[in-house]
Amino acid sequence: MSGVTPISPFASAKLGPITLRNRVIKSATFEGVVPDSLVTQELIDYHRKVAAGGTGMNTVAYLAVSPDGRPNGECLYQRDEVIPGLRKLTDAIHAEGAKASVQIGHAGLVANSKSNGVTGFGPSRRFNPLSFSFTPAAKESDIERVIEDFAKTALCAEQGGFDAVEVHLGHNYLLSSFLAPGLNDRQDKWGGSLENRARLSRECLRSVREAVGGRLAIVAKLNMVDAIPGGLKIDESLEVAKMIEADGTLDALVLTGGSSYGNPMFLFKGDGPRKDFAAHLPPFLRLGFKLVGKKFMPDLPFEEAYFESMARRYLDELDLPVILLGGINRLDTIEKAIADGYAFVQMGRALLREPDLLLKMQEGSQPDGICIHCNRCMPSIYTGTRCVLIDPDPIQTSGPVA
Ligand SMILES: Cc1cc2nc3c(=O)[nH]c(=O)nc-3n(C[C@H](O)[C@H](O)[C@H](O)COP(=O)(O)O)c2cc1C
Ligand code: SF4
Repeated sequence: MSGVTPISPFASAKLGPITLRNRVIKSATFEGVVPDSLVTQELIDYHRKVAAGGTGMNTVAYLAVSPDGRPNGECLYQRDEVIPGLRKLTDAIHAEGAKASVQIGHAGLVANSKSNGVTGFGPSRRFNPLSFSFTPAAKESDIERVIEDFAKTALCAEQGGFDAVEVHLGHNYLLSSFLAPGLNDRQDKWGGSLENRARLSRECLRSVREAVGGRLAIVAKLNMVDAIPGGLKIDESLEVAKMIEADGTLDALVLTGGSSYGNPMFLFKGDGPRKDFAAHLPPFLRLGFKLVGKKFMPDLPFEEAYFESMARRYLDELDLPVILLGGINRLDTIEKAIADGYAFVQMGRALLREPDLLLKMQEGSQPDGICIHCNRCMPSIYTGTRCVLIDPDPIQTSGPVA
Protein backbone atom coordinates (compact mmCIF):
# COMPACT_ATOMS: atom_id res chain seq x y z
CA MET A 1 0.00 0.00 0.00
CA SER A 2 1.39 3.41 -0.94
CA GLY A 3 -0.60 5.18 1.78
CA VAL A 4 -2.01 7.62 -0.82
CA THR A 5 -5.80 7.76 -0.71
CA PRO A 6 -7.16 7.30 -4.26
CA ILE A 7 -9.40 10.08 -5.57
CA SER A 8 -13.00 8.90 -5.76
CA PRO A 9 -14.66 9.56 -9.13
CA PHE A 10 -17.75 10.34 -7.09
CA ALA A 11 -16.20 13.14 -5.03
CA SER A 12 -16.77 16.75 -6.13
CA ALA A 13 -14.19 18.36 -8.43
CA LYS A 14 -13.42 21.77 -9.88
CA LEU A 15 -13.59 22.47 -13.58
CA GLY A 16 -12.28 26.00 -14.15
CA PRO A 17 -14.60 28.35 -12.26
CA ILE A 18 -17.27 25.73 -11.45
CA THR A 19 -17.50 22.68 -9.18
CA LEU A 20 -19.14 19.42 -10.27
CA ARG A 21 -20.56 16.96 -7.75
CA ASN A 22 -18.46 14.21 -9.31
CA ARG A 23 -16.09 13.48 -12.18
CA VAL A 24 -18.48 11.92 -14.67
CA ILE A 25 -19.83 14.06 -17.51
CA LYS A 26 -22.50 12.94 -19.97
CA SER A 27 -20.98 13.45 -23.42
CA ALA A 28 -22.82 15.26 -26.19
CA THR A 29 -25.17 12.88 -28.00
CA PHE A 30 -27.32 14.89 -30.39
CA GLU A 31 -30.85 14.49 -29.05
CA GLY A 32 -32.89 14.87 -32.24
CA VAL A 33 -35.99 16.28 -30.50
CA VAL A 34 -35.95 19.94 -31.55
CA PRO A 35 -37.77 20.07 -34.93
CA ASP A 36 -38.31 23.83 -34.65
CA SER A 37 -34.77 24.57 -33.44
CA LEU A 38 -36.28 25.44 -30.05
CA VAL A 39 -36.21 23.55 -26.74
CA THR A 40 -38.98 20.98 -26.29
CA GLN A 41 -40.27 19.14 -23.22
CA GLU A 42 -38.72 15.98 -24.68
CA LEU A 43 -35.26 17.57 -24.64
CA ILE A 44 -35.81 18.61 -21.02
CA ASP A 45 -37.07 15.14 -20.04
CA TYR A 46 -34.06 13.47 -21.69
CA HIS A 47 -31.57 15.55 -19.74
CA ARG A 48 -33.53 15.48 -16.49
CA LYS A 49 -33.42 11.67 -16.56
CA VAL A 50 -29.65 11.53 -17.13
CA ALA A 51 -28.97 14.17 -14.45
CA ALA A 52 -31.19 12.30 -12.00
CA GLY A 53 -29.03 9.27 -12.74
CA GLY A 54 -26.11 10.96 -11.00
CA THR A 55 -23.96 12.76 -13.60
CA GLY A 56 -21.68 15.58 -12.47
CA MET A 57 -22.58 17.49 -15.63
CA ASN A 58 -24.66 16.94 -18.77
CA THR A 59 -23.53 18.14 -22.19
CA VAL A 60 -26.45 19.28 -24.32
CA ALA A 61 -25.87 18.71 -28.05
CA TYR A 62 -25.84 20.98 -29.77
CA LEU A 63 -26.15 24.74 -30.04
CA ALA A 64 -24.98 25.83 -33.48
CA VAL A 65 -23.33 29.22 -33.73
CA SER A 66 -25.54 30.15 -36.73
CA PRO A 67 -28.36 28.61 -38.83
CA ASP A 68 -25.87 27.47 -41.49
CA GLY A 69 -23.76 25.84 -38.76
CA ARG A 70 -26.42 23.23 -37.95
CA PRO A 71 -25.77 19.67 -39.12
CA ASN A 72 -29.44 19.74 -40.19
CA GLY A 73 -32.43 22.03 -39.83
CA GLU A 74 -33.72 20.31 -36.69
CA CYS A 75 -31.07 21.61 -34.34
CA LEU A 76 -30.79 24.49 -31.84
CA TYR A 77 -28.93 27.58 -32.94
CA GLN A 78 -27.91 30.73 -31.16
CA ARG A 79 -30.48 33.54 -31.05
CA ASP A 80 -32.55 35.41 -28.42
CA GLU A 81 -35.63 33.29 -29.08
CA VAL A 82 -33.90 30.11 -27.85
CA ILE A 83 -32.91 31.53 -24.43
CA PRO A 84 -36.16 31.05 -22.44
CA GLY A 85 -36.26 27.36 -23.44
CA LEU A 86 -32.59 26.89 -22.56
CA ARG A 87 -33.37 28.36 -19.11
CA LYS A 88 -36.05 25.71 -18.54
CA LEU A 89 -33.63 23.02 -19.68
CA THR A 90 -30.79 24.12 -17.41
CA ASP A 91 -33.21 24.62 -14.48
CA ALA A 92 -34.29 20.98 -14.88
CA ILE A 93 -30.68 19.72 -14.97
CA HIS A 94 -29.74 21.87 -11.96
CA ALA A 95 -32.81 20.66 -10.03
CA GLU A 96 -31.33 17.14 -10.24
CA GLY A 97 -27.99 18.32 -8.83
CA ALA A 98 -25.93 18.27 -12.05
CA LYS A 99 -24.22 21.12 -13.86
CA ALA A 100 -25.15 21.93 -17.46
CA SER A 101 -22.81 22.30 -20.40
CA VAL A 102 -23.69 22.86 -24.04
CA GLN A 103 -21.67 21.89 -27.07
CA ILE A 104 -21.23 24.85 -29.41
CA GLY A 105 -19.96 24.66 -32.95
CA HIS A 106 -20.35 25.06 -36.67
CA ALA A 107 -20.91 21.92 -38.74
CA GLY A 108 -18.98 23.21 -41.79
CA LEU A 109 -18.62 20.44 -44.36
CA VAL A 110 -21.05 18.26 -42.41
CA ALA A 111 -23.90 20.83 -42.54
CA ASN A 112 -26.81 19.74 -44.71
CA SER A 113 -27.59 22.95 -46.59
CA LYS A 114 -30.80 21.57 -48.11
CA SER A 115 -32.21 20.73 -44.68
CA ASN A 116 -30.93 24.02 -43.19
CA GLY A 117 -32.34 26.09 -46.04
CA VAL A 118 -29.10 28.07 -46.05
CA THR A 119 -25.65 27.32 -47.44
CA GLY A 120 -22.69 27.24 -45.08
CA PHE A 121 -18.99 26.90 -45.83
CA GLY A 122 -15.91 24.81 -45.17
CA PRO A 123 -12.20 25.54 -45.42
CA SER A 124 -12.26 24.57 -49.12
CA ARG A 125 -14.96 23.55 -51.58
CA ARG A 126 -16.08 19.98 -50.94
CA PHE A 127 -18.98 17.70 -51.83
CA ASN A 128 -21.58 16.93 -49.17
CA PRO A 129 -23.20 13.55 -49.92
CA LEU A 130 -26.16 14.17 -47.58
CA SER A 131 -27.31 17.37 -49.28
CA PHE A 132 -25.89 16.15 -52.60
CA SER A 133 -24.36 19.56 -53.20
CA PHE A 134 -21.04 21.37 -52.87
CA THR A 135 -20.15 23.33 -49.74
CA PRO A 136 -18.21 26.45 -50.80
CA ALA A 137 -14.93 27.66 -49.30
CA ALA A 138 -15.31 30.25 -46.53
CA LYS A 139 -14.70 33.87 -47.52
CA GLU A 140 -12.71 36.11 -45.18
CA SER A 141 -15.99 37.75 -44.12
CA ASP A 142 -17.45 34.29 -43.24
CA ILE A 143 -14.44 33.60 -41.05
CA GLU A 144 -14.72 36.93 -39.26
CA ARG A 145 -18.41 36.32 -38.72
CA VAL A 146 -17.91 32.80 -37.33
CA ILE A 147 -15.36 34.03 -34.78
CA GLU A 148 -17.89 36.61 -33.54
CA ASP A 149 -20.66 34.00 -33.61
CA PHE A 150 -18.72 31.79 -31.18
CA ALA A 151 -18.67 34.67 -28.65
CA LYS A 152 -22.37 35.35 -29.18
CA THR A 153 -23.15 31.67 -28.70
CA ALA A 154 -21.18 31.49 -25.45
CA LEU A 155 -23.12 34.52 -24.18
CA CYS A 156 -26.37 32.92 -25.32
CA ALA A 157 -25.40 29.79 -23.33
CA GLU A 158 -24.70 31.92 -20.27
CA GLN A 159 -28.06 33.66 -20.57
CA GLY A 160 -29.64 30.24 -20.96
CA GLY A 161 -28.24 29.25 -17.54
CA PHE A 162 -25.39 26.98 -18.64
CA ASP A 163 -22.37 26.49 -16.39
CA ALA A 164 -20.02 25.43 -19.20
CA VAL A 165 -19.57 25.37 -22.94
CA GLU A 166 -17.86 22.65 -24.96
CA VAL A 167 -16.36 24.00 -28.19
CA HIS A 168 -16.48 21.40 -30.96
CA LEU A 169 -13.00 20.97 -32.45
CA GLY A 170 -13.62 17.40 -33.57
CA HIS A 171 -15.26 15.07 -36.07
CA ASN A 172 -14.39 17.29 -39.07
CA TYR A 173 -16.95 19.89 -38.12
CA LEU A 174 -15.83 23.35 -39.30
CA LEU A 175 -12.96 24.04 -36.89
CA SER A 176 -11.71 20.46 -37.11
CA SER A 177 -11.81 20.53 -40.93
CA PHE A 178 -9.61 23.63 -40.96
CA LEU A 179 -7.03 21.59 -39.01
CA ALA A 180 -7.00 18.76 -41.58
CA PRO A 181 -4.40 19.25 -44.35
CA GLY A 182 -6.46 17.12 -46.77
CA LEU A 183 -9.64 19.18 -46.30
CA ASN A 184 -8.02 22.61 -46.08
CA ASP A 185 -6.33 23.68 -49.36
CA ARG A 186 -6.26 27.38 -48.49
CA GLN A 187 -3.28 29.51 -49.45
CA ASP A 188 -4.09 32.35 -47.03
CA LYS A 189 -3.37 32.71 -43.31
CA TRP A 190 -6.06 30.08 -42.53
CA GLY A 191 -4.35 27.23 -44.46
CA GLY A 192 -0.98 25.66 -45.13
CA SER A 193 1.24 25.43 -42.04
CA LEU A 194 -0.13 23.88 -38.83
CA GLU A 195 0.01 27.31 -37.20
CA ASN A 196 -2.24 28.65 -39.97
CA ARG A 197 -4.63 25.68 -39.91
CA ALA A 198 -4.96 26.00 -36.12
CA ARG A 199 -5.60 29.76 -36.28
CA LEU A 200 -9.38 29.52 -36.61
CA SER A 201 -9.77 27.12 -33.65
CA ARG A 202 -7.56 29.34 -31.52
CA GLU A 203 -9.35 32.54 -32.56
CA CYS A 204 -12.75 31.01 -31.81
CA LEU A 205 -11.56 29.81 -28.39
CA ARG A 206 -10.14 33.27 -27.68
CA SER A 207 -13.45 34.80 -28.65
CA VAL A 208 -15.33 32.43 -26.31
CA ARG A 209 -12.85 33.11 -23.49
CA GLU A 210 -13.24 36.87 -23.87
CA ALA A 211 -17.02 36.49 -23.77
CA VAL A 212 -17.51 34.16 -20.78
CA GLY A 213 -14.09 33.15 -19.39
CA GLY A 214 -13.90 33.00 -15.60
CA ARG A 215 -17.69 32.67 -15.32
CA LEU A 216 -18.41 29.59 -17.42
CA ALA A 217 -16.08 26.62 -17.69
CA ILE A 218 -14.67 26.29 -21.22
CA VAL A 219 -13.98 22.82 -22.57
CA ALA A 220 -12.98 21.83 -26.12
CA LYS A 221 -13.54 18.46 -27.79
CA LEU A 222 -10.51 17.92 -30.01
CA ASN A 223 -9.76 15.17 -32.51
CA MET A 224 -6.59 13.20 -31.86
CA VAL A 225 -6.86 11.70 -35.35
CA ASP A 226 -9.43 12.21 -38.10
CA ALA A 227 -8.70 8.73 -39.47
CA ILE A 228 -9.39 9.77 -43.08
CA PRO A 229 -6.87 10.22 -45.91
CA GLY A 230 -5.37 13.69 -45.45
CA GLY A 231 -6.85 13.99 -41.98
CA LEU A 232 -5.28 15.41 -38.82
CA LYS A 233 -2.79 13.01 -37.23
CA ILE A 234 -1.88 12.68 -33.59
CA ASP A 235 1.49 14.48 -33.63
CA GLU A 236 -0.09 17.58 -35.15
CA SER A 237 -3.14 17.34 -32.90
CA LEU A 238 -0.86 17.26 -29.85
CA GLU A 239 0.92 20.37 -31.17
CA VAL A 240 -2.44 22.10 -31.54
CA ALA A 241 -3.32 21.11 -27.96
CA LYS A 242 -0.05 22.67 -26.79
CA MET A 243 -0.76 25.91 -28.69
CA ILE A 244 -4.21 26.06 -27.11
CA GLU A 245 -2.78 25.34 -23.68
CA ALA A 246 -0.28 28.20 -24.13
CA ASP A 247 -3.14 30.54 -25.17
CA GLY A 248 -4.78 29.91 -21.78
CA THR A 249 -8.23 29.81 -23.33
CA LEU A 250 -9.40 26.44 -21.98
CA ASP A 251 -10.30 24.88 -18.63
CA ALA A 252 -10.13 21.29 -19.91
CA LEU A 253 -9.69 19.29 -23.09
CA VAL A 254 -11.74 16.23 -24.05
CA LEU A 255 -10.21 13.95 -26.65
CA THR A 256 -12.01 12.24 -29.47
CA GLY A 257 -11.35 11.03 -33.03
CA GLY A 258 -13.00 10.20 -36.34
CA SER A 259 -14.90 12.11 -38.94
CA SER A 260 -18.62 12.67 -39.41
CA TYR A 261 -17.58 13.61 -42.97
CA GLY A 262 -15.55 10.52 -43.86
CA ASN A 263 -15.20 7.99 -41.03
CA PRO A 264 -18.04 8.12 -38.51
CA MET A 265 -17.46 4.65 -37.06
CA PHE A 266 -14.07 5.68 -35.74
CA LEU A 267 -15.91 7.83 -33.17
CA PHE A 268 -17.76 4.84 -31.78
CA LYS A 269 -16.22 1.48 -32.64
CA GLY A 270 -18.54 -1.51 -32.59
CA ASP A 271 -21.14 -2.45 -35.19
CA GLY A 272 -21.86 -0.23 -38.21
CA PRO A 273 -25.64 0.40 -38.04
CA ARG A 274 -26.00 0.36 -41.83
CA LYS A 275 -29.56 -0.92 -42.03
CA ASP A 276 -30.96 1.60 -39.56
CA PHE A 277 -28.98 4.43 -41.17
CA ALA A 278 -30.13 3.56 -44.72
CA ALA A 279 -33.76 3.68 -43.56
CA HIS A 280 -33.38 7.42 -42.86
CA LEU A 281 -31.90 8.29 -46.23
CA PRO A 282 -33.96 9.66 -49.11
CA PRO A 283 -34.64 6.89 -51.68
CA PHE A 284 -32.16 8.27 -54.25
CA LEU A 285 -29.32 8.08 -51.70
CA ARG A 286 -30.36 4.68 -50.30
CA LEU A 287 -29.22 2.89 -53.45
CA GLY A 288 -25.81 4.60 -53.39
CA PHE A 289 -25.46 3.80 -49.71
CA LYS A 290 -26.10 0.10 -50.46
CA LEU A 291 -22.97 0.16 -52.62
CA VAL A 292 -20.65 2.11 -50.30
CA GLY A 293 -22.30 1.51 -46.91
CA LYS A 294 -19.86 -1.13 -45.71
CA LYS A 295 -16.91 1.10 -46.57
CA PHE A 296 -18.41 4.26 -45.03
CA MET A 297 -19.83 2.52 -41.96
CA PRO A 298 -17.79 -0.66 -41.30
CA ASP A 299 -17.90 -2.79 -38.16
CA LEU A 300 -14.88 -1.88 -36.04
CA PRO A 301 -13.60 -3.86 -33.06
CA PHE A 302 -14.78 -2.33 -29.79
CA GLU A 303 -12.69 -2.32 -26.66
CA GLU A 304 -13.28 -0.66 -23.32
CA ALA A 305 -11.80 2.89 -23.19
CA TYR A 306 -10.65 2.58 -26.81
CA PHE A 307 -9.13 6.08 -26.97
CA GLU A 308 -7.08 5.74 -23.79
CA SER A 309 -3.73 4.79 -25.31
CA MET A 310 -3.80 7.85 -27.59
CA ALA A 311 -5.20 10.18 -24.90
CA ARG A 312 -2.38 9.19 -22.55
CA ARG A 313 0.10 11.18 -24.67
CA TYR A 314 -1.89 14.36 -23.99
CA LEU A 315 -2.15 13.49 -20.30
CA ASP A 316 1.64 13.06 -20.16
CA GLU A 317 2.54 16.16 -22.16
CA LEU A 318 -0.03 18.76 -21.06
CA ASP A 319 -0.73 20.49 -17.75
CA LEU A 320 -4.23 21.30 -18.95
CA PRO A 321 -6.86 19.01 -17.34
CA VAL A 322 -7.67 16.15 -19.73
CA ILE A 323 -11.03 14.39 -19.99
CA LEU A 324 -11.11 10.76 -21.16
CA LEU A 325 -13.90 9.69 -23.54
CA GLY A 326 -14.70 6.70 -25.71
CA GLY A 327 -16.10 3.33 -24.74
CA ILE A 328 -16.24 3.85 -20.99
CA ASN A 329 -18.72 1.40 -19.52
CA ARG A 330 -17.24 0.06 -16.32
CA LEU A 331 -16.67 1.42 -12.83
CA ASP A 332 -13.13 0.07 -12.74
CA THR A 333 -12.35 1.97 -15.97
CA ILE A 334 -13.62 5.21 -14.45
CA GLU A 335 -11.67 4.64 -11.24
CA LYS A 336 -8.49 3.85 -13.14
CA ALA A 337 -8.84 6.90 -15.40
CA ILE A 338 -9.17 9.21 -12.41
CA ALA A 339 -6.34 7.44 -10.57
CA ASP A 340 -4.14 7.86 -13.67
CA GLY A 341 -4.70 11.61 -13.66
CA TYR A 342 -7.58 12.30 -16.04
CA ALA A 343 -9.59 15.13 -14.51
CA PHE A 344 -12.98 13.77 -15.64
CA VAL A 345 -14.46 11.09 -17.85
CA GLN A 346 -17.22 11.54 -20.39
CA MET A 347 -19.75 8.82 -21.16
CA GLY A 348 -22.25 8.67 -24.02
CA ARG A 349 -23.82 5.39 -25.02
CA ALA A 350 -23.53 3.72 -21.62
CA LEU A 351 -25.82 6.44 -20.23
CA LEU A 352 -28.16 6.31 -23.22
CA ARG A 353 -28.59 2.61 -22.48
CA GLU A 354 -28.90 3.11 -18.71
CA PRO A 355 -29.45 6.71 -17.57
CA ASP A 356 -29.23 5.51 -13.93
CA LEU A 357 -25.99 3.55 -14.39
CA LEU A 358 -23.93 5.88 -12.21
CA LEU A 359 -26.34 5.52 -9.30
CA LYS A 360 -26.13 1.74 -9.65
CA MET A 361 -22.34 1.94 -9.70
CA GLN A 362 -22.31 4.16 -6.60
CA GLU A 363 -24.68 1.90 -4.68
CA GLY A 364 -22.53 -1.08 -5.62
CA SER A 365 -25.43 -2.91 -7.24
CA GLN A 366 -23.95 -2.93 -10.79
CA PRO A 367 -20.34 -2.18 -11.69
CA ASP A 368 -20.64 -2.59 -15.47
CA GLY A 369 -22.93 -1.02 -18.06
CA ILE A 370 -24.91 -3.24 -20.41
CA CYS A 371 -24.64 -1.25 -23.68
CA ILE A 372 -23.63 -3.70 -26.44
CA HIS A 373 -22.14 -1.06 -28.84
CA CYS A 374 -24.52 -2.02 -31.62
CA ASN A 375 -24.70 1.71 -32.46
CA ARG A 376 -28.32 1.50 -33.46
CA CYS A 377 -28.86 4.65 -31.37
CA MET A 378 -26.73 6.56 -33.85
CA PRO A 379 -29.31 6.81 -36.68
CA SER A 380 -32.01 7.40 -34.05
CA ILE A 381 -30.83 11.03 -34.04
CA TYR A 382 -33.34 11.44 -36.88
CA THR A 383 -36.32 10.17 -34.86
CA GLY A 384 -35.43 11.13 -31.28
CA THR A 385 -32.14 9.84 -29.88
CA ARG A 386 -32.59 6.79 -27.68
CA CYS A 387 -31.34 3.29 -27.06
CA VAL A 388 -33.57 1.53 -29.57
CA LEU A 389 -33.21 -1.74 -27.66
CA ILE A 390 -35.25 -0.14 -24.86
CA ASP A 391 -37.47 2.22 -26.88
CA PRO A 392 -37.95 0.98 -30.45
CA ASP A 393 -40.54 3.66 -31.29
CA PRO A 394 -39.72 7.14 -32.55
CA ILE A 395 -40.13 9.97 -30.04
CA GLN A 396 -43.03 12.31 -30.80
CA THR A 397 -42.22 15.88 -29.85
CA SER A 398 -44.82 18.21 -28.41
CA GLY A 399 -43.54 21.50 -29.86
CA PRO A 400 -41.40 24.22 -28.29
CA VAL A 401 -41.82 24.81 -24.55
CA ALA A 402 -43.64 28.07 -23.91
C1 LIG B 1 -26.55 8.99 -30.80
C2 LIG B 1 -25.26 9.71 -30.67
C3 LIG B 1 -25.19 11.07 -30.99
C4 LIG B 1 -23.97 11.75 -30.86
N1 LIG B 1 -23.94 13.10 -31.09
C5 LIG B 1 -22.78 13.78 -30.88
C6 LIG B 1 -22.75 15.18 -31.00
O1 LIG B 1 -23.75 15.84 -31.26
N2 LIG B 1 -21.55 15.80 -30.79
C7 LIG B 1 -20.42 15.09 -30.47
O2 LIG B 1 -19.36 15.69 -30.28
N3 LIG B 1 -20.44 13.78 -30.32
C8 LIG B 1 -21.60 13.10 -30.50
N4 LIG B 1 -21.62 11.76 -30.30
C9 LIG B 1 -20.38 11.07 -29.89
C10 LIG B 1 -20.32 10.93 -28.38
O3 LIG B 1 -20.32 12.16 -27.69
C11 LIG B 1 -19.06 10.17 -27.98
O4 LIG B 1 -17.94 10.91 -28.45
C12 LIG B 1 -19.01 8.75 -28.55
O5 LIG B 1 -20.30 8.15 -28.49
C13 LIG B 1 -18.02 7.88 -27.78
O6 LIG B 1 -18.35 7.83 -26.42
P1 LIG B 1 -19.13 6.57 -25.77
O7 LIG B 1 -18.32 5.37 -26.10
O8 LIG B 1 -19.15 6.87 -24.29
O9 LIG B 1 -20.47 6.52 -26.37
C14 LIG B 1 -22.82 11.06 -30.43
C15 LIG B 1 -22.90 9.70 -30.11
C16 LIG B 1 -24.10 9.03 -30.23
C17 LIG B 1 -24.15 7.58 -29.87
S1 SF4 C 1 -28.61 1.28 -29.22
FE1 SF4 C 1 -28.43 0.98 -27.02
S2 SF4 C 1 -27.16 -0.86 -26.75
FE2 SF4 C 1 -26.89 -0.15 -28.88
S3 SF4 C 1 -25.08 1.19 -28.76
FE3 SF4 C 1 -26.87 2.51 -28.52
S4 SF4 C 1 -27.15 2.66 -26.31
FE4 SF4 C 1 -25.80 0.91 -26.67
